[in-house]
Amino acid sequence: MNNIYLIGIGTGNPDHLTLEAKNLIETSDLILLPNKGSEKSDLLDLRRFICKQISKKSSLSIREFSMPVRDETNKNYLSRVDQWHKEIATCWSNAITEFRRQEKVLNLNIALLIWGDPSLYDSSIKIFHKYNEQEKNSCLKVVPGITSLQALAAAHKITLNSVGKPFHVTTGRMLRQFGWPDETETVAVLLDEKCSFNLVKKNNLRIWWGAYLGMDKEILLCGNVSEVGKKIANTRLTAKQKYGWIMDTYILKFQP
Ligand SMILES: C[S@@+](CC[C@H](N)C(=O)[O-])C[C@H]1O[C@@H](n2cnc3c(N)ncnc32)[C@H](O)[C@@H]1O
Repeated sequence: MNNIYLIGIGTGNPDHLTLEAKNLIETSDLILLPNKGSEKSDLLDLRRFICKQISKKSSLSIREFSMPVRDETNKNYLSRVDQWHKEIATCWSNAITEFRRQEKVLNLNIALLIWGDPSLYDSSIKIFHKYNEQEKNSCLKVVPGITSLQALAAAHKITLNSVGKPFHVTTGRMLRQFGWPDETETVAVLLDEKCSFNLVKKNNLRIWWGAYLGMDKEILLCGNVSEVGKKIANTRLTAKQKYGWIMDTYILKFQP
């Protein structure tokens, strides 16, 4: 049997790696890194950098695979994502088979370095099950990592929840589609290309925004949305033009 480790690596700061993550990366036989093309080469470089930094062995066995792109012509979102997961599972399978053939080994410990934490808006656990439906040869281990929300709250020195209150985690698309969730004071948003906070019709809405959290180029802004909303949108646009990509997340608190 193989062991497949899905290892949360945090969102850009190698110091956020747990000891468990570090130990498993160090002792894995094979590390699989997704190559998402030139726009996101920073993220690949960071994963490579993490491997290099924590490796005590002279060389870790790293293999890269080209990340398939989603078929945007398929208008059914769920089937589009499902198809994409199958294609990624096939990439894992091909890379592992090729490595086994080259190294002439049967049982491997294989690590995948997962951005943030594998439990938050990440597909790797689902992809593992698709992979193993076909291969039936692997056990899964999931190693938690620091999420972008934790990195954001720490950077702004705030708590995610108000005392004794829940908070809601969603995406920009859901916030646009369904509006502010009922009975909710705090909303955390990931995956928002469209600055959806500027569309929320509420007075006294505060935002804590962060881009490239944990990286040297980290940007933080906060304030009342009516005062800083446009500035954040402009900052986001300029940064995306400068670096070719952006990842940002934010927390909104409604103060009635
Ligand atoms: C596919 S989700 C993955 C989330 C990840 N698993 C986590 O635990 O944070 C990607 C989204 O996470 C957020 N994100 C990830 N890394 C980030 C970073 N370094 N700075 C700001 N936001 C980040 C962005 O909202 C991005 O669109």
